[in-house]
Amino acid sequence: MRKKSACEAAVIVPTFNEQENIGRLVRGLLKMGYCVIVADGGSSDGTEKEVLAIGDRRAVFLRSPGGRRRGLSDSVMDAALAADAEKIIVMDADFQHPLEKVPELAAALDNSEMAVGCRTKNENWGLGRQVISLGGNWTARAVFALRGSASCSDPVSGFFGFRKSLLGKISRRRVVGEGFKVLVDVLKQLGKGTKIAEVPYVFVGRDGGGSKFRARHALLFLKSLLS
Ligand code: GDD
Ligand code: MN
Repeated sequence: MRKKSACEAAVIVPTFNEQENIGRLVRGLLKMGYCVIVADGGSSDGTEKEVLAIGDRRAVFLRSPGGRRRGLSDSVMDAALAADAEKIIVMDADFQHPLEKVPELAAALDNSEMAVGCRTKNENWGLGRQVISLGGNWTARAVFALRGSASCSDPVSGFFGFRKSLLGKISRRRVVGEGFKVLVDVLKQLGKGTKIAEVPYVFVGRDGGGSKFRARHALLFLKSLLS
């Protein structure tokens, strides 16, 4: 018989140089009863040290192979395969995704295959980034509507959850590993009938450190839509 996993849900947190945030975030998630997989992309700062210092077996640091750079989407997919929980949640390390919304995403997975944190507002983003995000949102939804794939009101969100069984429907070859938009790579592979719950939230300013978003990530997003 398969042993029961330690946690109701595993939270995957992709990181790249997040030493200022990761300790506090992981402690918060553990306190809430979740297992955590920190999916690192080859950080050169104290991110790993912060996680190991917590000393809790429910918090795992998933090092990138050889300490090489590993993209956000690749890191999330590697962690999802390693997760030992029925429910998987993905969230950023920098507190832009509210901790208090994680239970809502997890609860929504009782009745849905997926749950997506959908932004009602972006606080602290300049005009340029708002325009890129809105453009990405519209483009993704238009492409999904044309292709008849699954969709939601915020397909470019980085805050979402799914049941582990969903992984069987996802081909890794169609995930753009270096990209930032793993949700787009997942949704495009699912049928229109997929039950997706939406959890509204406000995307607030980053806590410590800086954004890793670069122009090439916008191009990788287009690659995600085309592949
Ligand atoms: N493993 C890994 N590898 N993690 C990475 C990498 C990488 O190459 N680059 C960034 N990350 C981690 C960051 O450490 C952070 O926890 C998370 O991925 C998101 O990166 P940010 O740099 O904070 O992204 P952002 O704030 O500009 O963009 C966010 O908004 C988008 C719009 O909703 C992210 O949340 C996106 O995931 C989201 O789609
Ligand atoms: Mn961020």
